[in-house]
Amino acid sequence: MEFFIDSADIEAIRELCAFLPIDGVTTNPTIITKSGKEPQQVFDELCEVLTEDQKIIAQVVSADYDGMLAEADKLASIRGGKNIVVKIPVTREGLRAIPAVKAKGITVLATGIYSPDQAFWAAKAGADYLAPYVNRMCSYGDGVGQVVELVHTLAQYGFEAKVCAASFKNVDQVHKLLASGCPAVTVNPDTIRDMVDHPGTAIAMDEFAAHWEKAYGRTTL
Ligand code: E4P
Repeated sequence: MEFFIDSADIEAIRELCAFLPIDGVTTNPTIITKSGKEPQQVFDELCEVLTEDQKIIAQVVSADYDGMLAEADKLASIRGGKNIVVKIPVTREGLRAIPAVKAKGITVLATGIYSPDQAFWAAKAGADYLAPYVNRMCSYGDGVGQVVELVHTLAQYGFEAKVCAASFKNVDQVHKLLASGCPAVTVNPDTIRDMVDHPGTAIAMDEFAAHWEKAYGRTTL
């Protein structure tokens, strides 16, 4: 399975990649604007902090078919195209653009998915990844349950598209998707930190150290 960081915060990406086997980074137009940097600077810094084996997943901004195709070419040239994935929204123009971008040999992630039905059409259009917005879907119904169901529906049809569940707001949502066998997730840095920093572990380690020091007068073996 693949685990991506959903952020353009270079320091957070550097911090997390230093101790976790992260498979890459996903961005969207809002995430890029939040960095306060020009998009090219963000892409340059991502290329610097990530290895070529880690994917960079970046989204087109244009809303029309021709614009999406032109921007897909531009994004696919980042880092010489090595492990670059282009995000295309599941609008009507986007669904039309997905097979055309795929035909150029570019890996496509269909984004902005709010329902399993949109995901189904994006899979049928040939998208490699499908990004349902789990937390945002919860405003319309059982977001987590619908995405779990989507993972199973795709398997039944033998679609090659992988669900890359996105838009998480808490660890419980991520946990439920991981338990369903979801093949990819993209998670913001705070939620990733919450996944690994359990207070119980810190308490247990402090206890071990205190007992050891009391018995042997040192904190090493
Ligand atoms: C990821 O690819 C999406 O763009 C992202 O997860 C959306 O997250 P948000 O709902 O936090 O904006």
